[in-house]
Amino acid sequence: MEIGIYVDDEAKERGESEQTIYREGQKHSYIAEKVIGHGSFGVVYKAYESYTREAVAIKKVFFDERYKNRECEIMKELEHPNIIEYKKSFVIDGGTKEDVYLNIVMEYFPEDLKRVMDYYRNQGEKVPLFMTKVFMYQILRALAYLHGKGICHRDIKPSNLLIDPTRNIIKLCDFGSAKKIVPGEENISYITSRHYRAPELILGARYYSHEIDIWSAGVLLVELINGEAPFKGENGVDQLIEIIRVLGTPNRLQLIKMNPDFIEFKFPQVLPISWSYFFEKKVPEDALDLISNLLMYIPSHRMKPIEALMHPFFDELRASTLYSDPLNRVPNLFDFFKEEIELSSVQIIEQLVPTWYRNEELERMQKNKKAICTPSRDYEDELDKMVRDHKKKSKRSKAQTTRRRGSQYELDDQEVYARFYDTKT
Ligand SMILES: Nc1ncnc2c1ncn2[C@@H]1O[C@H](COP(=O)(O)OP(=O)(O)O)[C@@H](O)[C@H]1O
Ligand SMILES: [Mg+2]
Repeated sequence: MEIGIYVDDEAKERGESEQTIYREGQKHSYIAEKVIGHGSFGVVYKAYESYTREAVAIKKVFFDERYKNRECEIMKELEHPNIIEYKKSFVIDGGTKEDVYLNIVMEYFPEDLKRVMDYYRNQGEKVPLFMTKVFMYQILRALAYLHGKGICHRDIKPSNLLIDPTRNIIKLCDFGSAKKIVPGEENISYITSRHYRAPELILGARYYSHEIDIWSAGVLLVELINGEAPFKGENGVDQLIEIIRVLGTPNRLQLIKMNPDFIEFKFPQVLPISWSYFFEKKVPEDALDLISNLLMYIPSHRMKPIEALMHPFFDELRASTLYSDPLNRVPNLFDFFKEEIELSSVQIIEQLVPTWYRNEELERMQKNKKAICTPSRDYEDELDKMVRDHKKKSKRSKAQTTRRRGSQYELDDQEVYARFYDTKT
């Protein structure tokens, strides 16, 4: 089944003619292999590119040329190891107004977290705690990046987290509900799948923020540990009752913080239960602590994703011994890139990168003698300061750092600054 000729919208925007798109007259098509997802929006196919044979996923959605497709616009903005990569988009026009589709081409990932959890559930088992850590770390890293860019995903749940099981890499997908949150601007409250929906959304809040995703991440963490989502309401109100059963009845202040416009409502008076009583089996103290910091009524009290990465729950992932055995299948969790650092802070990232990793990275880079680093403009001052500080501190004070053509540096001594820049060899 042929989906359509690949027309490169971005190449068109750059003013390139179709000739260059068809590369030496070769006809490029995406050949659909099978349908892998259905929704109210349309269909997701697994496909491959007829020329390169590269596997891709194509999400086909209705298209109205009067509006920009928000999902596509947001995806184009994102580049992160834990977010599914956007490749291209093209429109297929069937001739009538109702027959126009936007096709969003993405990298293909074979599994999703829902299927992984179902697999363990069917065996009567739970996802191992170690894998839970590997997945949750990556999910929170994606959220730190996304929220740093002002974007709220608004539909965090297992089927929107794709997995490559060979390397235990997890990537966030489905930006169909995502939105850039602007303080003071209204948003719809009927969003996020029910079991993952934050209490302020159930209470009808319209001025909520990124913390709604943190709630969903907290629910995911409990689900990974327990094999089942903690609050499984049958409808909106029932969902809130399920939350109250565990967190207790929200007090006045908590209600106001969730939704100041909320009209008085008689809630059943319930006392909170401790998370340690919630689980049937014994769950480590650090996991319980992280859960209680994510699942808080007051949105601003929920832990920020970057802080959550620093939580002792993830300390196990920072041990060098883990990475010496490839059978552990742990992806690189410390390859923070320039934009990620800019969106948080150098100090925080320094805390997240273990010393052994930093040393190995420096060793690797020093072997790569001619590494050329291109810092962003914002970092030039910071780099100058770091070079000065480093020269002061360094015993081998002949750290040779030459400034070249304004924005480029050739670094002989990579020690301090290497990890802050994209490095081309
Ligand atoms: N890039 C991809 N690689 C592999 N499977 C995907 C990909 N994108 C989506 N899918 C599959 O299609 C399903 C639906 O896609 P999604 O974007 O989540 O749409 P919906 O709005 O219906 O939830 C996902 O749950 C996943 O199983
Ligand atoms: Mg989805």
